[in-house]
Amino acid sequence: MDRAARAEYLQALGIDVWVPRAERAAWPSARAAVASADALEAASPPEAREATPPAPEAREPPPRAQEGQDPGGWAAERWEALRDEVLRCTRCALHATRTQGVLGVGNPRAEWMVIGEAPGAEEDRRGEPFVGRAGQLLDAMLRAIGLSRTQNVYIANVLKSRPPNNRDPRPEEVTACIPYLQRQIELVRPRLLLAVGRIAAQNLLGTEESLSRLRGRVYRFGELNTPLVVTYHPAYLLRNPADKRKAWEDLKFARSVFRQLTAGVPEDGNRS
Ligand code: URA
Repeated sequence: MDRAARAEYLQALGIDVWVPRAERAAWPSARAAVASADALEAASPPEAREATPPAPEAREPPPRAQEGQDPGGWAAERWEALRDEVLRCTRCALHATRTQGVLGVGNPRAEWMVIGEAPGAEEDRRGEPFVGRAGQLLDAMLRAIGLSRTQNVYIANVLKSRPPNNRDPRPEEVTACIPYLQRQIELVRPRLLLAVGRIAAQNLLGTEESLSRLRGRVYRFGELNTPLVVTYHPAYLLRNPADKRKAWEDLKFARSVFRQLTAGVPEDGNRS
């Protein structure tokens, strides 16, 4: 992505940094955002910069199907069965209050998978994850690192049904629902998982550590040992815009991890 485009996306993400008053008028907004990003990098503590992240443990990546390969429509059938099950699911009490189950959205062959907490009111109504205000910010965050739900990322939640009044998921709801997410991961086979928010991160990692302590490290999730990194939930960032800078550090960290994982693989975010 060129600097101007990156700058535009950083602006959408709401990242800007103080620019001397004398310079402000002379700075087209996109250039100011580039300066902001550069200034952020310069001001960040060294460990937070996009330097080489700790190498994800060397393991054979899971085998990935090639474009156009789905012998006998195996994957298509499994997706259809999964969607059908989620729509008819009564494994927990949330089925009684939801409008519909919300499976996921995006490229089912994406190399990046974003995992949130649970559908909110708008998602419950429309049947798609992250379509409310938080979803718009998530899209801007993803665009800032060259990702888009229409092209090269798949988005899902830990829970497929909306908890009433957006309360936190209960442990029994997570236990009932997580096999759906595991099946999604097995079908998409992403190279990297990005858990957004404390609730998603804690439930995926089986920990009660705070989000600030979970950031900046590479974990492994599930049977496929898929690398996982953590960042803030966009709804949290809407309430706490000052932390958008840290989210930007997390996104750069995730991008570095991804680049390490795929070194030598063409980088459009999709399988070749
Ligand atoms: N928050 C989430 O965690 N997921 C959504 O789909 C929407 C809001």
